[in-house]
Amino acid sequence: MIVELKNITKYYQNSGSAEKRIILDDLSLAIAKGESIAIVGPSGSGKSTLLNVISSLDTCNSGNMIFDAQDLSKLNEKELANFRNQNLGFVFQSHHLLPQLSLLENVLLPYLPEKDKTVKKEAEKRALDLLEFVGLSKQIHQRPGQMSGGECQRAAVVRALIHQPKLILADEPTGSLDKKSAEQLGDLLVDINEKQAVSLVVVTHSMDLAKKMKKIYQLEDGKLNLL
Ligand SMILES: Nc1ncnc2c1ncn2[C@@H]1O[C@H](COP(=O)(O)OP(=O)(O)OP(=O)(O)O)[C@@H](O)[C@H]1O
Ligand SMILES: [Mg+2]
Repeated sequence: MIVELKNITKYYQNSGSAEKRIILDDLSLAIAKGESIAIVGPSGSGKSTLLNVISSLDTCNSGNMIFDAQDLSKLNEKELANFRNQNLGFVFQSHHLLPQLSLLENVLLPYLPEKDKTVKKEAEKRALDLLEFVGLSKQIHQRPGQMSGGECQRAAVVRALIHQPKLILADEPTGSLDKKSAEQLGDLLVDINEKQAVSLVVVTHSMDLAKKMKKIYQLEDGKLNLL
């Protein structure tokens, strides 16, 4: 298993109020290595919260999160940050590329401080290969403002992959795209999942996108149900 959530409970309690709002209710989930899953559910049902718990960006009130046989509750903040940098890739609804940098520079940003020339060269080769894989070879010197929305989202996928993560977490990755670009991005994520040996969790309102994944879970009333 790449991810094992065991009996996760997450609630919010507003200050001054005794009432707890339970978002994740004793929820368990196992994701196998190389698997792709979609999480669907109504707005406000806790999908992004669940993604944040999986990525250790958010804490839960009880339960355990195990990543690749490692219990994350035993790690401190710094170790968690290292864990995320090494193992996870993120794709969001908007691409968050830096406007002043070229596409290639954006993708290679994590390697900017890298002093080892060999590591840098390898990253550059990987970037160029991945950009070719997603059909962006011609755009490498363009800035995000000079690229289409769909191109920027594909670039964001490459950026998420550049450090060879074990798991990609995508929150509404096609939310800002038209139908055709959304379809392309969905196919790209599946392709990457299959060919680059990376597991994939996609949160989406789009059933078209969800159906491309091997499993679809519905989050409702704090629980996950396999559809
Ligand atoms: N810091 C917070 N304090 C209190 N409530 C919060 C906090 N963060 C999130 N919530 C609540 O938790 C619930 C779940 O939020 P979440 O963002 O996970 O929903 P979602 O399923 O991703 O929705 P959407 O599909 O609209 O993105 C929401 O009702 C939200 O208001
Ligand atoms: Mg959300």
